[in-house]
Amino acid sequence: MRTYAQQNPVDPPDRPGWVDGIDNPYLHGPYTPVISEVTAVDLDVAAGEIPADLYGAYLRNGPNPVLAPRGLYHWFDGDGMVHGVYFRDGRASYVRKWVRTRALHDEIARGKVELSGIMGPFDLSRVGDGELAVNPDYCKDTANTTLNYFKGKVLAQWYNAGRVYALDPLTLDTIGEETFGGALHTTLNAHPKVDPRNGDYLDYDYGDFKSYLTYYVAGPDGRLKHTARIDLPGPRLPHDTTFTPNYTILHDFPLYHDVDVLRRTGHRVVQFHRDQPSRFGVIPRFGTQEQVRWFEFTPGYVLHMVNAWEEGDWIVMDGCFQPDPTIRRDPAEGILGSMLAYLRYKGHLRRWRMNLATGEAREEQLDDLNVEFCLPDTGLYGVKTRWSYHQRIPTDLQTLAFDALVKYDHERGSREVYEYEAGWYPSEAPFARSTRGGEEDSGYVVTLATNVMDYRSEAWIFDARRITAGPVCRVRIPARVAPGFHASWVPGRELWGERPPGH
Ligand SMILES: [Fe+2]
Repeated sequence: MRTYAQQNPVDPPDRPGWVDGIDNPYLHGPYTPVISEVTAVDLDVAAGEIPADLYGAYLRNGPNPVLAPRGLYHWFDGDGMVHGVYFRDGRASYVRKWVRTRALHDEIARGKVELSGIMGPFDLSRVGDGELAVNPDYCKDTANTTLNYFKGKVLAQWYNAGRVYALDPLTLDTIGEETFGGALHTTLNAHPKVDPRNGDYLDYDYGDFKSYLTYYVAGPDGRLKHTARIDLPGPRLPHDTTFTPNYTILHDFPLYHDVDVLRRTGHRVVQFHRDQPSRFGVIPRFGTQEQVRWFEFTPGYVLHMVNAWEEGDWIVMDGCFQPDPTIRRDPAEGILGSMLAYLRYKGHLRRWRMNLATGEAREEQLDDLNVEFCLPDTGLYGVKTRWSYHQRIPTDLQTLAFDALVKYDHERGSREVYEYEAGWYPSEAPFARSTRGGEEDSGYVVTLATNVMDYRSEAWIFDARRITAGPVCRVRIPARVAPGFHASWVPGRELWGERPPGH
C-alpha cells in the first residue's frame, strides 16, 4: 500500500501542535489541518489566464479540526472549513472560514473536545428511545461534508445527518442554524438536492432510532412544505438522493450496523449483508410512505449518484456503485483499520432503470474505471444529461485521494481521462457553465489542489470540452489547502446578479 509519506514525510509548518502526537494519516502530510482563516483578493496566476466567461464561486467543504479529538479521529470528525474561490472579470479571490457549529463553539469556550467522533464510544444515556435522529447529542456534528446554495445562503451539512448551518455566500461567515422557518426539528442528511427548475429543496433525515428515515421538501420561499415518515427495516446509512421533476429516489442498501450492538458496546459496527438487495424507493415529490415504490437490485452500496431523469414510465439513474463494500481491515493498520478500509473505495459507474408502470428493474455497469465524486452540470439535475465529471481513485493508496479527472459522454458511451501530475491532491471538481451559453459542456471544470512535496495550493480551471489538455489556468492560492469532501459551483448571477451585457 502506498502512502503520501513516501513522497514527503515532512508535515507542513502551518499545523496545530497537537497533531504531532497523533499517529493518524488523516492528520498529517497533505491532510494536516490548517490553523488560519484567510481572505485574499486579486490572486496571482501561475499559468494561463482566468477565463472572462467564468463567473461565480467554487466552494469546497472539508474537515479541519481546531482541537485534539476525543478518542480516535476519523476524517469525518474534523470541524468543517469552507473554501471559496470567486471568479469575476478575469480575476479571482479566496476566502476560507470555519463553520461555527454548536460543537465548535462549545469546544472553543471549554478549550477541549467533549463529544466523541463517529468511531465512538458513544454515551447513549443522552438519547431517548422515541426521538428522531438524535446523533448530534452523542456524536460530534461538524457540518464538514457538503455545501449547497439555497435561497441566498450556502448550507453546510454533515455526512452522518447533522444540523444545517447557513453561511453568507460571499463572506462564508456562519449566519446560524437553518430551520426552514422554524419547522425543522431534526438533523438532515449531507446531500440535499435543489431543483434548479423551481427551487424546491429535497432532503431527508436518518438515524439509529425509529423511524429511521424522514423525507422533507422545503419550498423556494425557504419554508418547509412537506414531511413524510418512511419506515425502513432498521437503521441504514443512506448518503445521497436524486430526483426527477415528479419523484425523489431514496436509498436502502445492505450496508448497515446493528443497533443492539451499538447499545451494548457504544460502537457502530458496520457490516455488508450480501444476501440482501440494494433497494431504491421512488416517492412522488410530495408523496407519503404508502406511495413509495421500492425496486430491488444487486447488493452493494452507493455513496454518490450522478443524476436521474424520467423517460416515459422509466426512472433512469446513474451513480457510482460499490459491488462489495465489505470493510476489510488491514491488521497492520491497527485500531484505525476500519476507518482506513471504509475510505478505500472500489466501484464503477452504473445505470439503474425503474419502470413505474410495470415494476420492472434493470441495471448495467457502464464502465470499469474506479471513479467517484461524480457531478453533471448541477443546473441540469433532474433532467437527462449527456456529460458528467468524475474523480478516479487509486486503489493502492492508503488514504482517499484522486489521481485523474474523468469526463463521461453518456450519449456515445465514451470517456476522456486527464491524469493529474504526481504529488498533487485535487478536490471534487464541479462544472461551471460559461456565461456565453452554448452546449451542455460549454464551460469549465474547477478544482482546488495541493502539492504534497512543497505544500503549495492552486485552483485549476479546465476547459470542460478539452479536459485532456490539462488546466487552461492555474491560480495561486496564498495559503495551503488540505484535501476535503464536496465542492459545488454557485453561478455569479446568484452572487452578484446577471452579468452586464458585453461579457
Ligand atoms: Fe458525500
